[in-house]
Amino acid sequence: MSSTSYTIPSIVRASEQLTKEFAKLADKRAILRSKNLEALYAELRTLPNEEKATFGKELNALKSDINSWLNDADESAEKQAPIDVTAPQDINAAAPQLLPGETGTKHPLMTELEYMSDIAYRMGFAIEQSRLIDDDYHMFESLNFPEGHPARDDYDTFMTTEGLIAPAHTSTMQNRVLKKYAGNLEKGEPIAVLVPDRVFRNEDLDVTHEHTFYQYEGVFVGEGITVGNLIATLRTLLSEYFGQDLKAKLQPFYFPFTEPSFEFAIERPAALRKGDTEADMWLELLGCGMIHPNVLSAAGIDPVKYSGFAWGGGIERLVMMKYGIEDIRHFESGKLDFLRQFS
Ligand code: DAH
Repeated sequence: MSSTSYTIPSIVRASEQLTKEFAKLADKRAILRSKNLEALYAELRTLPNEEKATFGKELNALKSDINSWLNDADESAEKQAPIDVTAPQDINAAAPQLLPGETGTKHPLMTELEYMSDIAYRMGFAIEQSRLIDDDYHMFESLNFPEGHPARDDYDTFMTTEGLIAPAHTSTMQNRVLKKYAGNLEKGEPIAVLVPDRVFRNEDLDVTHEHTFYQYEGVFVGEGITVGNLIATLRTLLSEYFGQDLKAKLQPFYFPFTEPSFEFAIERPAALRKGDTEADMWLELLGCGMIHPNVLSAAGIDPVKYSGFAWGGGIERLVMMKYGIEDIRHFESGKLDFLRQFS
């Protein structure tokens, strides 16, 4: 602790008392509010002008001593703080003050995925998370894309050098949820699961293409399940989501993991319609179909006894239409100006 030698008796005394006081304080900054210091300032005000200069000079020196005690104390507190190298990052690092807590808010994509999940949950679907890293079997093999299948090219995504895959769709979870809930079928109950989660693609980025996005995948299997059940389920889910009874139509499509495969289109909600042309009337929302027998077999489910449907849709487009967001890249940008609009 550095100290200047003082000549004015009251400052010498105060300096000794402050030194003792400082040593005992738990909150070192409280020294700045010490009565001993206050008394010196009070004394300064009562002095005749000719004495003020010398007294003021020594008082300033004392004040700068106190500041250097405080700096030393801060430094040694930092040195002494135990660092647990095995702890998660947040234990050892101060939280960055990006958004004040009281105005922080949920990301709009999460709000919307949760809303969609709530509706599905009320319809009897269990909710399961996907994975951020997966393997070739779950990404392709189990979904009826054998090695060398040309449709693998439609799901170009990121891979580790060890061949692990950042999943290009939530369908990677189909095999796992079919196995996990297979017991339902034995009890005479259907398998009904929704997987809302993050997926990745190797995209050329523009206003409608992003490398990271979110899907909501539905899987439903039981006895005697038909395309009629698929249409009814999706119409109910999406009508509830948009808050109005919607017309729907299926258009033929191709996915290796469904047979037949469709694109599901809904009548564009009035609030989102721009013109009245036929093309403008329909909104293609997601891919779907009857789960391919090979996909059921790969999960140990008898495709003769059971059938089912599945779908996978992206949440970004729905959120963009709902809030008039013009560029999909805002979502992953972390821009505070963008995020604050949803607080
Ligand atoms: N996984 C498909 C995609 O991302 C979407 C999809 C289509 C999911 C049909 C399904 C399905 O479950 O049955 O392009």
